[in-house]
Amino acid sequence: MVNIKQAVQDAVSTAIVQAAAEAGVDQDSIDLSQVIVSLPPSSDLGDLAFPMFPLARGFRSAPPAIATAVAALLASGNCIWIADARAAGPYVNVFLHRSRYTELIASDLTSAPEKFGRTSRYEGRKVMVEFSCPNTNKPLHLGHLRNNALGSSVARLYAAAGAEVERVNLINDRGVHICKSMLAYREFGNGATPESAGMKSDHFVGSWYVRFAQWAKEDPSAEQRAAEMLQQWEAGDPEVMELWRTMNRWTIDGINQTYLRTGIEFDRVYYESETYLSGRTEIMEGLERGIFYTAEDGAIMVDLAEIGLDTKVLLRKDGTSLYLTQDIGTAIARHRDWPFEQMVYVVGSEQQYHFHVLFHVLKKLGYTWAENLYHLSYGMVNLPDGRMKSREGTVVDADDLLSQLTSLALAELEERGRDSEVDDPQATAHAIALGALHYYLLMVTPNKDMVFDPSESLSFTGNTGPYLQYVGARISSMMRKAGFDMASAASIDYDLLNMDSEWDLIKAIGRFPEVVERSAEGYAPSELAGYLYDLGKSFSRYYHDTPVFQGVEPATAQARLALCGFVLAVMRQGFDLLGIPFLDRM
Ligand code: ARG
Repeated sequence: MVNIKQAVQDAVSTAIVQAAAEAGVDQDSIDLSQVIVSLPPSSDLGDLAFPMFPLARGFRSAPPAIATAVAALLASGNCIWIADARAAGPYVNVFLHRSRYTELIASDLTSAPEKFGRTSRYEGRKVMVEFSCPNTNKPLHLGHLRNNALGSSVARLYAAAGAEVERVNLINDRGVHICKSMLAYREFGNGATPESAGMKSDHFVGSWYVRFAQWAKEDPSAEQRAAEMLQQWEAGDPEVMELWRTMNRWTIDGINQTYLRTGIEFDRVYYESETYLSGRTEIMEGLERGIFYTAEDGAIMVDLAEIGLDTKVLLRKDGTSLYLTQDIGTAIARHRDWPFEQMVYVVGSEQQYHFHVLFHVLKKLGYTWAENLYHLSYGMVNLPDGRMKSREGTVVDADDLLSQLTSLALAELEERGRDSEVDDPQATAHAIALGALHYYLLMVTPNKDMVFDPSESLSFTGNTGPYLQYVGARISSMMRKAGFDMASAASIDYDLLNMDSEWDLIKAIGRFPEVVERSAEGYAPSELAGYLYDLGKSFSRYYHDTPVFQGVEPATAQARLALCGFVLAVMRQGFDLLGIPFLDRM
């Protein structure tokens, strides 16, 4: 799509340069990059506003005088997107050419609605996004749902903005915590299986982790035995390996079902059991190159004074790796596997220090791509009653929460008498539950702790996923009633969309590609969420105030229906980027 905003910005720059020349001002004393476009508070003040005060010094004249000169040049200039320009104090307010702008948006949206919002901003850039990263001793919990929603959305946003994206998962499938579930199962399980216990397989494994905790309270030797089991695992003891494989399969199968249920996918999966020894060679090389040093006790260390921190062990004195070492090796291996320009780690805020150090060490090792590593840090999610404070066994299970949301959504559908209107009420309820969950988790800035309120998230009114899904369904049902099909929208006279409310909707639609880019750039699905909510509200207001097709002159009805179709197309694209299922009725 033509970037109209850029075209207007260019025209403004040209006008400023010309105004400067006419006033005898030296070109070198004006800095065009300081002229930053903004959106005027209302359409009668124009569509785009450019403040002139940053130019006052270079021009040696008052901003309103500069604005007057620039506005006059723009108004009589030859940018086809500008209908008029007026000075208002220090601002130049630009009025766009409404019908040309509308025609442009309409042609993009009719020819390829699914491409609207796709841009080439990051074309040629490879972005790896790591997210989820569960442990195989228990099922996913609410924190993972936030992580998955963020990772998945950021990956889609970057892809929409033109990047080539690789979604990776790192499964923590080894360590003493894994051995704890294994040990308790071997001790007390009597050969039970998820099938015999009638449990989802990851929940089954999780129950043995809980059982271990109880056991360890009564019997202090349990912890010691878990540590021994880890040693056996590291030595490749066949029986332990066999048990490990079986139980890991159970957990991973179960977790995959949860991913499927929530629309979460990966392109590549790494396993800690395969990477936990990595990083050692790189650290030894760094030592030789004098980047690291050996401490008195023989451990290999890095001095972090450059980033205002203390020192940190990279290899223990017995030569074993740490979490950090492993991540160093893994990052390097990933870059070898898939040479990215940028990598994002979606991991909880409690690991800020870890990633700060990790990125620094990789830079010290001389990897240029290490400049473009980003820790997308997110806060805790609690339920209103304060659960999730990770007391053993009481974390909010992801599957249970989803089931709860689904039954609440089903109850709501029944109460509204909508269950008979949809083909499959259960599937619709599930889609509403996902919309509620993902929107609620994504509308908040990631770094903040948050409270997930199930019933609030499901409200059909207000700033929620179901509200947006409802707006989408309402537009769809109107299209059906009117028998309107976007494909036949070719002969529409868009000049009939002559109300300010219609122009405001068109401009909002036109901003979508830019919102996608900004949301990707800022790792901020919340920005897109806010945009969609505003669009939903503007549409609802319009729909409330304006008859679209009933009792409306046919040509006008066609134009209005097309406009509604454009809103719908943008909402669908936006839903997809946030992981909100679209429903054509609800
Ligand atoms: N599995 C880890 C945990 O539960 C998170 C791993 C994060 N990713 C990484 N590359 N370190 O805390």
